[in-house]
Amino acid sequence: MTLGSLDPLAPDCRLDPQVAHRLRDMSLLVSLPSIASRLNNLISDPQTSVKTVREVVEMDPALTAKVISLANSSYYSVRTAVKTVDRAITIIGYQELGVMALGLGLTETFNMSSAPKDFDVESLWLHCLATSWLGQRLASRIGFPEVGEVMIAGLLHELGVIILVSKFPILFQTLMDLILAGQSWLVAENALKARHELVGHELAKLWKLPEVYQQAILFHHAPEMATSHKIIVAATSLADALAHKIGFGLKTEVNEVDLGYSLNTLGMTPFTLQSFIRETISKIEEITPMWRQMVKTSERVPDKAGFSSLMDNSVKSVKR
Ligand SMILES: [Fe+2]
Ligand SMILES: [Fe+2]
Repeated sequence: MTLGSLDPLAPDCRLDPQVAHRLRDMSLLVSLPSIASRLNNLISDPQTSVKTVREVVEMDPALTAKVISLANSSYYSVRTAVKTVDRAITIIGYQELGVMALGLGLTETFNMSSAPKDFDVESLWLHCLATSWLGQRLASRIGFPEVGEVMIAGLLHELGVIILVSKFPILFQTLMDLILAGQSWLVAENALKARHELVGHELAKLWKLPEVYQQAILFHHAPEMATSHKIIVAATSLADALAHKIGFGLKTEVNEVDLGYSLNTLGMTPFTLQSFIRETISKIEEITPMWRQMVKTSERVPDKAGFSSLMDNSVKSVKR
C-alpha cells in the first residue's frame, strides 16, 4: 500500500453524499452529553478548583462511580480506600478525569448494540483508551505541555469508526464483509465512499469540535498532511500505531503509517521509541484491568442497587 492512499483527501476518498447528508441530520439529533463538555471546559480553565469539578462530577452517578473506582485501582497505588470525589479527583488529575467523562459520554451517545457479530466493540473502546493513554505518555516524554489535548485527540481519533458501527449498521456490515473477503480496511472504505477519517471529521465539524480534534481525526493515518496542531496530530498518529503494536489494535484497521514523520515531529528517534515502548509495556499491564472494567460497565447506572454494587467493587479492589 502506498503512503498516498492513506491521504483521506485523495480524489478517490470522497464521502458518499448520502452518508454526508445523514451525518448532517444526525448532528442535529445527537450531541455529546453536556456534562462531558462542561467538564472539559472547566478542566481547560486554569482557575478551576477541585470543588467546582466535584460539583459537576456529582451530577452524574455513573461518572461518580467511575471516578471513585478509578482512584482505587491498583494503577494509582493508594494506601487507604478513596471514598470521596474530592480525593479521587486529586489522585486522578483533571486531565484523566476529562478523558473519562468524554469516554463515558461517547459510550452513552453511541449505542453499539447493532454492531456486526464479527466486530469486537470492546476492542474498539480499548483501542481508543490505549491511544489516549499512550498519547499522554508520549507528550509527557517529550515535555509537550498540551497533554490534555493529546489525550482527548487519542480518545476521539476513531470517531468515524464509532459512528459507522453505531449509526450505519448496514453499511458497516458490508464493509466487514469486504474486509473478511480479503480487502484491506482502506480499500473497502474507499469502495463504499465511507472513509472513517472523513466520517469522523464531518461530524466533528458539524459538532464544531475544536480544530485540533478535527485535524487529529482527519489525519491520524496521514499526520504529514495536517495543516495545524502538527505535534498533537503526530502524537495521536504515533500513539495509534503503538496501540496496534502492543496489542490494543483494531484487527481490521490500517496499520501502515510511516512512523518516521511522527518521530521527527516529536523529536524522537527509533532508539528513544524502543525505550519508550519497554517502559510503557510494564505500566500498561497495571492499567488494563481498569480499562476493561470501564468498558464493561459503561452503560448508565440503572438503579441505586447497581450503583452501590459498583461502589462496593471499587472499594474491594483497593490495593493495600
Ligand atoms: Fe483510524
Ligand atoms: Fe486508531
